[in-house]
Amino acid sequence: MQSSKIAGIGYYVPKNIYTNDDLSRFMDTNDAWIQERTGIKERRFADRLEETTTTMGIEASKIALERAGITAQDVDFIVFATLSPDYYFPGCGVLLQREMKMKEIGALDIRNQCSGFVYALSVADQFIKTGMYKNILVVGSEKHSFAMDFNTRSRNVSVIFGDGAGAVVLQPADREGQGILSTHLHSDGADAEILAMYYPGAHANKWMRDQPGYPDQELGGLFMTTEQLESGAALPYMDGPAVFKKAVVKFPEVIKEALEANHLGPQDIDLLVPHQANLRISQYVQQLLGLPDEKVFNNIQKYGNTTAASVPIALCEAWEAGKIKEGDLVCLAAFGSGFTWGSALIRW
Ligand SMILES: CC(C)(COP(=O)(O)OP(=O)(O)OC[C@H]1O[C@@H](n2cnc3c(N)ncnc32)[C@H](O)[C@@H]1OP(=O)(O)O)[C@@H](O)C(=O)NCCC(=O)NCCS
Repeated sequence: MQSSKIAGIGYYVPKNIYTNDDLSRFMDTNDAWIQERTGIKERRFADRLEETTTTMGIEASKIALERAGITAQDVDFIVFATLSPDYYFPGCGVLLQREMKMKEIGALDIRNQCSGFVYALSVADQFIKTGMYKNILVVGSEKHSFAMDFNTRSRNVSVIFGDGAGAVVLQPADREGQGILSTHLHSDGADAEILAMYYPGAHANKWMRDQPGYPDQELGGLFMTTEQLESGAALPYMDGPAVFKKAVVKFPEVIKEALEANHLGPQDIDLLVPHQANLRISQYVQQLLGLPDEKVFNNIQKYGNTTAASVPIALCEAWEAGKIKEGDLVCLAAFGSGFTWGSALIRW
């Protein structure tokens, strides 16, 4: 079956830099706490009015298309991963299609949070494998800053996340053994609520009925009431320690699964590009796999956790820095809300 290769890659980050000290102007936090727990030194936040998840995705896409040597009109399918779409619906895929003046091609939106890009890449890979499409644009983009609460009550969440976008063009590989060797995707919804944003949503479960302000009426009102909005119910929720514990198990598990499926071992990896959730998580995974520093790429220090954008931004920065050469074995791995997690093994 025809495998797919990354023919072009690009990323975009907003120019506004917020250091840890900058955040301490808004909430009770400090540089030492953030760096020690997460490794993050600074992050980028999009312009509040001018930039959106879609516009950042477009900037990254333009670079990816140029590097692939194709134009927007050559793209025959879009896969757009984000948890922070411009609209509740429709998704960002069609907005990108419109703004980039693409043909009336298919546009698919992926809702898999931190593992969104790996899921998106896997979906695109299947379309190339079957021969259905030849030029697929895969985008991961996030504008977290618009929905975060920059107050002490939300400090465990708001110091971690940042804005940005990454994109790749996927095309049929040129030769046998090149490109995406395999992807492995997983989910376990048992702990869906411990890293989540519940509103706006159609949830009507017991857990929600116990929350303050749940509307007592026959129809409607499940979307969001003013009381819920004011109580902070519409903000992202994260049980950080629980997420950490699960991540350090699932990251290595899905990387080993990818290696075993290809009869390879950790020593064969030339570069591991893990989702930038937390530097401590990446370091733990690195240690477990016995990889030296030069074989693991981290940039969370500069950008924080950019969720669906983190893997393509890191992959692109690593490639631009000359850390990925033709023939290298690159492993992408991600874990996040859902929980969902996955890996992709690529022969560059
Ligand atoms: C979020 C995370 C950094 C918190 O680190 P932690 O060591 O687990 O910290 P805790 O949540 O137990 O909080 C410890 C203390 O720090 C405080 N704290 C939380 N956020 C803080 C902040 N930004 N600044 C200062 N103090 C903070 C807490 O209030 C708590 O204080 P207390 O002991 O007085 O109650 C860590 O759990 C983590 O990174 N988890 C994984 C998150 C993740 O990867 N999410 C994305 C998934 S893809």
